[in-house]
Amino acid sequence: MATPTPSPARIHDFAIRENVPVAEGVMRLTIEAPRLAAAIRPGQFMSFAVPGDTTQLIRIPLSFASADAEAGTVTTFYAVVGDGTRRLAAMQPGDTSTVLGPGGHGWTIPAGAKRMLVVAGGIGITPIIAAASLAREAGAEVDAVVGALTAAKLCGIDELKALGCADVRVTTDDGTAGTKGFVTAEVGPLLDRGYDAVLTCGPEPMMRAVAAQARGAETRCQVSLERMMTCGFGACNTCNVETVDGMVGACMHGPVFDARRVVW
Ligand SMILES: Cc1cc2nc3c(=O)[nH]c(=O)nc-3n(C[C@H](O)[C@H](O)[C@H](O)COP(=O)(O)OP(=O)(O)OC[C@H]3O[C@@H](n4cnc5c(N)ncnc54)[C@H](O)[C@@H]3O)c2cc1C
Ligand code: FES
Repeated sequence: MATPTPSPARIHDFAIRENVPVAEGVMRLTIEAPRLAAAIRPGQFMSFAVPGDTTQLIRIPLSFASADAEAGTVTTFYAVVGDGTRRLAAMQPGDTSTVLGPGGHGWTIPAGAKRMLVVAGGIGITPIIAAASLAREAGAEVDAVVGALTAAKLCGIDELKALGCADVRVTTDDGTAGTKGFVTAEVGPLLDRGYDAVLTCGPEPMMRAVAAQARGAETRCQVSLERMMTCGFGACNTCNVETVDGMVGACMHGPVFDARRVVW
């Protein structure tokens, strides 16, 4: 695989505009960072320095759901899973820090795409909202499948509907909302509609299963892979992904990959 071009990431100051819970264990964060808002593209990520622990040197990589270049804001959804995201969740409007971005390569909408399917599992909804937005801007009809463990953890449905997604289907593992089971239960039948591509983000086994379904339906599929990321700009080799072209860094060659290039 070709060496990626140097990372476009820069360090930006940001101030928090909004940081609110939107589902069980999930926050929606909007930051003011005008130059980042103008530069970041759907599927790319940004890495947050979260104040409050001087021993914590590593930034937190997060995807983004939407960016408003005019307002100078970027919005993300994040799951509170450990110390860093707990400290981020405690930050208040007006609090400041720095964010490194934009990082990596995002989604590609095939030229002339008429109909796209986006599939989110859990907090994978964040870059999927951005993917749906990109596909709608390109003039495609978009269907969506959103899965979560349980109804209380679902988020992003309103955002997908507001973007004009035609058919938004929900699955929960416990059946408390939508179809009981995994996203694959809805993705399988939908693939008969014939999509120009499937874009997916969620737990890796879910993406592997969706990629296999897409392949079976002879439909192109892109996946946004999550890896531990120490630097976020190609300097440390902590974010390796095995591909048919060898090991590559997710922060520079990804996080979005053509599913057929990934060695699952
Ligand atoms: C490109 C990219 C985009 C991401 N986008 C989002 C997003 O939009 N929303 C969101 O909620 N999360 C996202 N993540 C995951 C997020 O970075 C981690 O959940 C976060 O770093 C955890 O930090 P922590 O200090 O709270 O948890 P820690 O205490 O560090 O860890 C808690 C748990 O999360 C795991 N973890 C920690 N860091 C990562 C990481 N970088 N990747 C995978 N697992 C990790 C740990 O192994 C542990 O199981 C993304 C990760 C990557 C690489
Ligand atoms: S996170 Fe350092 S090389 Fe990717």
